[in-house]
Amino acid sequence: MEKTIAVLPGDGIGPEVTEAAVKVLQSIAMRYGHTFHLKQAAIGGTAVDQFENPLPQETIEVCEASDAILLGAVGGSKWDRNPAHLRPEKGLLNIRKHFDLFANIRPVKAIPALLGSSPLKQEVAKEVDMVIVRELTSGLYFGEPKQRSEEAAVDTLVYTRKEIERIVDQAFEIARTRRGKVTSIDKANVLETSKLWREVMEERMTAYPDVEVEHMLVDSAAMKLITDPRAFDVMVTENMFGDILSDEASVITGSLGMLPSASVRSDGFGLYEPVHGSAPDIAGQGKANPSAAILSAAMMLRHSFGLHTEASAIEAAVMGVLDDGYGTGDVMRNGKGIVSTEKFVTKVIEELERELVSE
Ligand code: NAD
Ligand code: IPM
Ligand code: MN
Repeated sequence: MEKTIAVLPGDGIGPEVTEAAVKVLQSIAMRYGHTFHLKQAAIGGTAVDQFENPLPQETIEVCEASDAILLGAVGGSKWDRNPAHLRPEKGLLNIRKHFDLFANIRPVKAIPALLGSSPLKQEVAKEVDMVIVRELTSGLYFGEPKQRSEEAAVDTLVYTRKEIERIVDQAFEIARTRRGKVTSIDKANVLETSKLWREVMEERMTAYPDVEVEHMLVDSAAMKLITDPRAFDVMVTENMFGDILSDEASVITGSLGMLPSASVRSDGFGLYEPVHGSAPDIAGQGKANPSAAILSAAMMLRHSFGLHTEASAIEAAVMGVLDDGYGTGDVMRNGKGIVSTEKFVTKVIEELERELVSE
C-alpha cells in the first residue's frame, strides 16, 4: 500500500513523540511492504515563531495532499500571553475545524502490565475497556460570540441538531462493534444545549434498537469514572465535557502518556494524536512516553488505511515491551525498568521484529 502522511510535530514533547511514532511506521512499512511518504509541516507555537500563524497555509496544503495526519502536541508558556489568533492551541482548533474532524475517538483500556501504576484499586482498573466519543468541532470551543472586555468575558455554547445527530450516530456505530451500550453524558438539568442533546439521543436511538442507551449527568459521570469505570462501554459527549473526562479517564490506564486518539470525519480521513499535551515540564529530556503517539499511529493504520494486522502488531509490541517491565518514568515505578523515549522505541521495534519471526 502507498500512502502519504502529513507529520505535524508541534511543540514541547510533540517532536520527540512523533519522531518515535514515525520510526515505528517506517519499521512497519519495511516489514509489511508498504510505502509511507511522510511530509513534515509546522503547527502550534513553532509555526507562530516561523510563520506568525499557528496553522500556516503551507501546512493546510500538505495535509490536504495527504491521506492522514499524524500530530504531536502544541502549546507552551512562551506563547501563553499571545493574542487568541496567535496561540498554539488555535492551530489545533483550526485544523480540526478546517477538515471537519467532528468525531474524536479516545479508547481507554486497562493495560495489564501497568495496573500497579493506576491510582485505582487493581480490581477496579483491570476490566476497564471503554471508548470516549467526543464532539470536536462545535460547542464552547467554537461558539460565537467569543469576546472579552476589561470587566467581562463571553464564550458561547451552541449545538445544532445536525451536529448532535452525527456524533451520536458515530457513537451508536462504534457501540455496535463492542458491548452494545452507549452512555450519553450531558448537563440536561441545567443547560439548553444538553436538553437538545438528550432529545436527539432519544430520537436517534430508535434507529439502533440493538444498542442500550443510558443518560448520565456529567458531574455524576466524573464520579462514576473513578468508582466504577467498568460500567462504561461507549461514552458520547460534547466537546468540553469530553476533553475533561478523557484526561480523567486516562489515569485509569496508569498515565496520560498512554492514551491515543483519532479525530475523524465520515469518509475515513483523520488526524491522529495523543490525548496529552506538550508537557513542557519534561520536554527535551528524553522522558516523554511515546506510547500515546505510537498507538495513535496504529489507530491511523486501522481507521484510515484499513491495515488491521499492522495496527494490531504495533499495539502488541507496545504491550510486549511494557510486559517485559520496560517503560518511561511516568509508568514505571521500578527504577530498573525506566528507559528513555528513544530506548523505548528501539524496544518496540525489536518487539515488532520478534512478533514477525514467531508468526
Ligand atoms: P500536558 O498533557 O502537556 O501534561 C500534563 C502532565 O502529564 C504533565 O506533568 C506532563 O509531564 C505529563 N505528561 C503528558 N504527556 C506525557 C507523556 N507523553 N509522557 C510522560 N508524561 C506526560 O498538559 P498541561 O501541562 O496542562 O499542558 C501543557 C501545554 O500543552 C499547554 O500549552 C496546553 O495548552 C497544551 N495541550 C496541548 C494538547 C494537544 O496538543 N493536543 C493537549 C493538552 C494540552
Ligand atoms: C486536547 C487538548 C485541546 C482541547 C487543547 C490544546 C485545545 O486539551 O486535545 O484534549 O482542549 O481540545
Ligand atoms: Mn485535553
